[in-house]
Amino acid sequence: MIPTKNKTEDSLSTVELNDQTIIDSKAIKLEKKNKKAAESEAKKEAFKNTIEVKEIEPQDLFTKVKKPLLKDRENVIEVENLDFYYSSGTKQALSKINMKIKQNTVTAFIGPSGCGKSTLLRSINRMNDLVENVVIQGAIKVNGINIYEPGINVARLRTEVGMVFQKANPFPISIYDNVAFGPRSQGIRDKEVINQLVEDSLRKAALWDDVKDYLKDSALGLSGGQQQRLCIARAIAMRPKILLMDEPTSALDPIATLKVEELILKLKKDYTIVIVTHSMAQATRVSDYTAFFLSGELVEYDRTKRIFTNPKDKKTEDYISGRFG
Ligand SMILES: Nc1ncnc2c1ncn2[C@@H]1O[C@H](COP(=O)(O)OP(=O)(O)OP(=O)(O)O)[C@@H](O)[C@H]1O
Ligand SMILES: [Mg+2]
Repeated sequence: MIPTKNKTEDSLSTVELNDQTIIDSKAIKLEKKNKKAAESEAKKEAFKNTIEVKEIEPQDLFTKVKKPLLKDRENVIEVENLDFYYSSGTKQALSKINMKIKQNTVTAFIGPSGCGKSTLLRSINRMNDLVENVVIQGAIKVNGINIYEPGINVARLRTEVGMVFQKANPFPISIYDNVAFGPRSQGIRDKEVINQLVEDSLRKAALWDDVKDYLKDSALGLSGGQQQRLCIARAIAMRPKILLMDEPTSALDPIATLKVEELILKLKKDYTIVIVTHSMAQATRVSDYTAFFLSGELVEYDRTKRIFTNPKDKKTEDYISGRFG
């Protein structure tokens, strides 16, 4: 039992302590506020410096394996002897695919329905991991790293290799929150950094002027073309190095299509883009290289101009001239 006297002394000292605590906590709060402001400035600076040029850092891609940093690798994607099977190996979708994709280029995948374009595209950021019972042999290297090696951090890979799907799939939340979703999920909390990232991504996706006064409105209220550009902005906000687009304009009208195509041409300054398309005209308008697939095989892969003016393979010629497919 504590004697009463001591109790009083204790409560007195507690009051003193409380006064002290109030003063201290004010000082601490101010210090914290200043520190936060300084940190926010530093983060903004760091962000400014990283937004334009960002290399894939192998140590980030890997949780276990570590490799030296590779910079400005010319062939940012290398597909090596890739065989891909669905249904536990019983259904082959891709056979012995070999191709190298250069940095800051647009490559179009063309070919008739079912030839394996989407399968290959999805393999580049391991989206096929979500499909059960697939068997993959060979390698796909991103900046020199085989993304099918054990120890790859797939979530991190997908932030470096972004994807835009055929059907725009904005989340049923605000325009702002759609773009901020990725950065927030990566742990970025600073509101100013997120604001800047949202604006930058929407500008790059040529959507800022359309939506800047409606950022808090639902993304579902946007037109189809705007929704697709929002999905591009959302992918860009993750600051990827590579953008994969699976028929991104097939659900859009000609004007919205043109806008997305103009955007692709602008974006290739900063990104390497691979686009699947059924439109030969689109392939010639946007791509530097074209890969023609047939029944899971890569028939021909060359400069787009060459593919469309002077293809080497008769099958390519037949396809681009509309004789089949
Ligand atoms: N989840 C799956 N399970 C089993 N087979 C699949 C699956 N997805 C695709 N396939 C098969 O793999 C082959 C290649 O399909 P893929 O979707 O890659 O073709 P595609 O060239 O993108 O066609 P499209 O132009 O119609 O989109 C097809 O035979 C298809 O039926
Ligand atoms: Mg497809």
